[in-house]
Amino acid sequence: MSNTIKFLDLNTTHAQVRGALDDAWVQAIETSGFIGGKNVDLFEAEFAAYCDADHCIGVGNGTDALELILDALGIGAGDEVIVPANTFIATAEAVARVGATPVFVDVDPTTALITGANIAPALTAATKAVMAVHLYGQTVNMDDVLAVCDPAGVKVIEDSAQGHGATWRGRRAGSMGIAAGFSFYPGKNLGALGDGGAVTTNDADLAEAIRSRANHGRSLNSKYEHDVLGRNSRLDGFQASALRIKLAELDRWNEGRRNAAELYRKNLPASFVPYVEMEDARSVYHLFVVRTTVVPRDVVGEGLVAEGIQWGIHYPIPCHTQTPFRADVVPSIPVSEEQSVQIMSLPMHPHLTPAEVERVCAVLAAIEADHAGSQS
Ligand SMILES: Cc1ncc(COP(=O)(O)O)c(C=O)c1O
Repeated sequence: MSNTIKFLDLNTTHAQVRGALDDAWVQAIETSGFIGGKNVDLFEAEFAAYCDADHCIGVGNGTDALELILDALGIGAGDEVIVPANTFIATAEAVARVGATPVFVDVDPTTALITGANIAPALTAATKAVMAVHLYGQTVNMDDVLAVCDPAGVKVIEDSAQGHGATWRGRRAGSMGIAAGFSFYPGKNLGALGDGGAVTTNDADLAEAIRSRANHGRSLNSKYEHDVLGRNSRLDGFQASALRIKLAELDRWNEGRRNAAELYRKNLPASFVPYVEMEDARSVYHLFVVRTTVVPRDVVGEGLVAEGIQWGIHYPIPCHTQTPFRADVVPSIPVSEEQSVQIMSLPMHPHLTPAEVERVCAVLAAIEADHAGSQS
């Protein structure tokens, strides 16, 4: 359909850097630089610098990044890790995979993010860490979260899978907690051409422990000695070169997302309520999520699809009600549960044009008016 408005437009993203990506692929084949090597080293240095972090370790994907951080911190059976109920399941999966217990807490209704007030009542003697998820591209209020966690000796791990380039009071996502996990899943703000991920941290010992664990627990000084039980979770050389090419464009692409978000905020009809961008945060709008407060979501969705407008839901089933976690659960997590039936992710990518944003808003306005008409 020619008037389709795409939810995500990777074709345009890749067309903008296509020549360089093609060259990188040829170079990977010609040099056999598949695992490790120059491009991985350079990407790690460049991404650490981009995040204002001292260290970056390329890994296989964002879930592994989180799991490796938890494992290297010695978190496992008998430990509790606080996780927002409104997140992608990988945040909780990583916790459960190291043998620890995810303790789900609610999020702030205006931002959909975890806060100190959500965390404080859930702290116990067994709490070892909090997963601070920079959801939808906006960092959590890190000062608030750290103020609750630091005195309790609880580590703050940033889940920055959706936060490449976001800042809190001028500090980059990936530089504020004990460590951060990033995903380079293709649809992320910084996406590879396949799976990929990274950990950033300012802690040299932790960086070393993670690098070893991601490479079969190999001693960093000896190819044949393995100091700890590790695994294989490495970033490919080709993915690293693609990420280097795309990292150079990331700020420009994030700016494109911010411009689209600003226009949405100006044009959205009243019953579609976007999450607040906090004064001290600079979101990179991985997603643009609104709550439909009057018209049922399936009605809105049908209306959008009829006009060729793609949309999504992040996430329709709160994490604590997913099958693997249900048994452990806690009574009710009201904000996450209520909002999970209202939220809709509208088209959001760096190349969305003002005309497209305006058309999405005009279609939403027509849906709102039709619904009001049908109720009267
Ligand atoms: C918030 C969040 N955490 C973790 C992940 C996991 O990343 P990956 O898919 O690269 O394993 C994702 C990716 O979808 C995510 O959105």
